[in-house]
Amino acid sequence: MKFKTLAIHSGHSPADHAGAVMTPIYQTSTFAFQGVNRPGAFDYSRSGNPTRKALETCLASLEGGSSGFAFATGMAAETTVLMMFNSGDRIVVHSDLYGGTYRLFQSVLRGKGIDAVYVDLRDAAATEQALARGAKAVWIESPTNPLMNLVDLEAVSLLARRHGAIAICDNTFLSPYFQRPLDFGVDVVVHSTTKYINGHSDVVGGAVVVKDPGLAEKIGFLQNAMGTCAGPQDCFLVLRGVKTLAVRMEEHNRNSLAVARWLQRHPKVSGVLHPGLETHPQHALAKRQMSGYGGTFSFRLHGGQDAAFHLLERVRVFTLAESLGGVESLIEHPVTMTHASVDPAALQAMGIQPDLVRISVGIEDVEDLIADLEQALA
Ligand SMILES: Cc1ncc(COP(=O)(O)O)c(C=O)c1O
Repeated sequence: MKFKTLAIHSGHSPADHAGAVMTPIYQTSTFAFQGVNRPGAFDYSRSGNPTRKALETCLASLEGGSSGFAFATGMAAETTVLMMFNSGDRIVVHSDLYGGTYRLFQSVLRGKGIDAVYVDLRDAAATEQALARGAKAVWIESPTNPLMNLVDLEAVSLLARRHGAIAICDNTFLSPYFQRPLDFGVDVVVHSTTKYINGHSDVVGGAVVVKDPGLAEKIGFLQNAMGTCAGPQDCFLVLRGVKTLAVRMEEHNRNSLAVARWLQRHPKVSGVLHPGLETHPQHALAKRQMSGYGGTFSFRLHGGQDAAFHLLERVRVFTLAESLGGVESLIEHPVTMTHASVDPAALQAMGIQPDLVRISVGIEDVEDLIADLEQALA
């Protein structure tokens, strides 16, 4: 079956749920055994729950994997994956990534002996050198938040494999509709389903998808042992959201490209970081490994932070808020908001400066979005 059909049907069969066309919310902590030592398909909701199972099956099929896991948040998904590693392990981490992931590596895992080695994964020689020193994994984010840099998924996965490391990719920004990292050799896909997969800004959630049964066993064990799973209500909402993922992503894509092209011509804008623009230095790679560009991108303003704050204070249709991927348009200032947990020297090194604004372009009428930015920039 193809993507839109899977998004609507995968993981659910009405025959298994009293004919219910939508997956019911199994709001139960525990399940009756059929007899002594005879559990049914489910025994306890931390270990498994039918609503969660439906979402996990659906996400696995959309990413082209064999096993999916749903978590309470994107960070719970990341933490669970990273608990596969032990004290003394090194992980090569892309030097430009979501601030919360950076904080997890720096302020949580480092103290427990799991070391992140930051490398610009666009640099093949530096990546190979770092992997050759004995890393257990490489952590990819592509496109990166908020600089919209891309990592060549196929090339980096190949290098990782050659050096005995696994490749993990945060696919939050594009969703499986526009990018399927497993198809390029990535071993583990991670999502904040809070973003495009749910798409309605009413749930925080996370997901992991893998192909390899050994990895699936490890992650399934950790999800149960650590209790990081998503609850059934949230799984129901994410399942409802994912049914419209394809149509939403097409609209996000169309609107964000139109806004990006408009911003590119605006005299107060000094640069637009959008992989769908021909001016993006990795536009060719974008066309090769992505089938669309999503709805989130960043731009820089002449006039630095003052100009950015001027814009943020004046928007009316865009909402000043963290997060992305919902149907409504959001705007934010990475230095003082989503990336405030990254130390200033690291921000500077990454190129996340006070003139940078990130927008998540929603699926409203694009003319209204452009008019809003026009009046706010005036
Ligand atoms: C790329 C990326 N990965 C992971 C996360 C973390 O997800 P959550 O907020 O659902 O824990 C975020 C959140 O903004 C994100 O943007």
